[in-house]
Amino acid sequence: METFNNKTDTRPIGVMDSGVGGLTVLKQLLSVCPNENYIYFGDTKNLPYGEKSKEELIEIVKEIFEFFKKQNVKAVVLACNTTSATAYEELKNKYPFKIYPLIQSVAKYMSADKGLLKLGVMATEATVKTKTYTKEFKKYNPDIEVMEQACPLWVPIVEKQIKNYDEKKAIFGYLKNILEFNPQKIILGCTHYPYLMDKISKYAPAELFINPAQIFARYIADDLKHNNLVNETPYGNIHYYSSANPTGFKQNAKMFLEIDETPELAEI
Ligand code: DGL
Repeated sequence: METFNNKTDTRPIGVMDSGVGGLTVLKQLLSVCPNENYIYFGDTKNLPYGEKSKEELIEIVKEIFEFFKKQNVKAVVLACNTTSATAYEELKNKYPFKIYPLIQSVAKYMSADKGLLKLGVMATEATVKTKTYTKEFKKYNPDIEVMEQACPLWVPIVEKQIKNYDEKKAIFGYLKNILEFNPQKIILGCTHYPYLMDKISKYAPAELFINPAQIFARYIADDLKHNNLVNETPYGNIHYYSSANPTGFKQNAKMFLEIDETPELAEI
């Protein structure tokens, strides 16, 4: 008979984003924490988050947190830069589970590199408005210079699978300013953006860009261990929910992760 550490915590981990972008984070979590049970929530009804106000986003995230609370999750991963920037501070101590915000976690880990002094960030309008990337990196290294560039066309291009667009304008248009700033690294500060890497790398070397999903997943794995929240039973499963158009979600998910089931529709 198999025996497991009686401290093992089998409760699921909630992972949320406005749509399929957060799957870039889930994919990395599956490689570092494969035993965990996951509930992925794609809020396709409210997409794109990047065009919404801070107040609207706080209300939306509250509803998703209530949904996760009913599912008895042990932690919620904000696999979304926009809600980490706008809703996390307001909601962080109000729920009976751990909350992992993307930007704050990644800044903490990346700031160990004291040689990083010029950083570019491509993100949604709502994220850039808060300057959370700048504030979080400066917390650990006051000398760092951060330039944040909003890319409002990028999430619709990914989620709506738009093919006919002026690439030079839509892709290079946003990159131009940030390249002139001459950063050492550029963070893809929206979980949808890694899908555009093929296009982006036509205008700048791919090595310049960081998809923070891997760093974020490592941060979460360490923290779960540190807080005795790890599930050691080797039977992790994933359940998907979307707040609108589950079939479309399953179709779009393929960009990042092959999923077997059509998500369940969750009314929030
Ligand atoms: N993928 C999310 C992020 O990382 C939100 C994108 C959106 O819906 O605008 O910011």
